[in-house]
Amino acid sequence: MALLEVEALTKSFGGVTAIADLGFEVPEGLVYSVIGPNGAGKTTLFNMLSGIYRPDEGSIRFMDQGVVVGRQPHQVAALGISRTFQNLQMFFNMSVLDNVMVGCHLRTRTGLFSAALRLPRIKREEMLSRQWAQEALAICNLDKFIGQEAGSLPYGVLKRLEIARALAVQPRLLLMDEPAAGLNDTETLEMRKLIRRICDSGITVLLVEHNMGLVMQVSDRVLVLDYGSRLAEGTPVEIQNDRRVIEAYLGGEVRYAL
Ligand SMILES: Nc1ncnc2c1ncn2[C@@H]1O[C@H](COP(=O)(O)OP(=O)(O)OP(=O)(O)O)[C@@H](O)[C@H]1O
Ligand SMILES: [Mg+2]
Repeated sequence: MALLEVEALTKSFGGVTAIADLGFEVPEGLVYSVIGPNGAGKTTLFNMLSGIYRPDEGSIRFMDQGVVVGRQPHQVAALGISRTFQNLQMFFNMSVLDNVMVGCHLRTRTGLFSAALRLPRIKREEMLSRQWAQEALAICNLDKFIGQEAGSLPYGVLKRLEIARALAVQPRLLLMDEPAAGLNDTETLEMRKLIRRICDSGITVLLVEHNMGLVMQVSDRVLVLDYGSRLAEGTPVEIQNDRRVIEAYLGGEVRYAL
């Protein structure tokens, strides 16, 4: 049974159809990548999967019973879907630990409302958040930066910090939007190992990435988008040998370098 089922999803902005009648299924336990040229609709898809945008049409089902459409981002996070962003979204003047604990508050939000009345519960949540944050930082090899101010850290470390924050919500599905963008070869290799480690820990990964070397090495399956529609879907080997994918990316006008 699929962890995530997307059916007939459509989203337009004015005259631009960013996602058009898109359907796919993500089985649990895989690294599943979504690739496509700039403007193909990848981030728009993530924005719908995480409750930031509401689709014009279509359905998103998570773990069979969870209907994503119509929920707010914090409700989607509570269902078990968390994400990172294409552009770093970080509190640069806060510590590494606090940046990750901010993520946990998505999960403990209802508790915050009763802060004034039920102090022990808040303390428990604070302890739990700290524990989840520390575990997430350990998975991302960020233990040694825990007390440092985020703004003092190199870009490659901040990309991992964003992932730690998303992991601290204890998701079943992690959406990663271009985690290797701007990374050098060494950092990209480290990112590949991290993605695999996350998947091996039982979290299904939905990956958007332009680095085709990384995508083909780390993915179990790949979905190719073109103008918001499904061009192809399959294993990395199937995708690399797919005539439509080669034509769209390599033939004639080179829109995108494999
Ligand atoms: N909030 C918005 N308002 C208007 N148009 C938008 C909005 N978000 C996305 N679009 C348009 O939708 C299309 C898909 O954009 P999207 O950002 O999803 O592409 P992408 O595949 O993530 O591209 P990239 O690889 O460059 O990140 C583009 O034509 C874009 O201009
Ligand atoms: Mg994008």
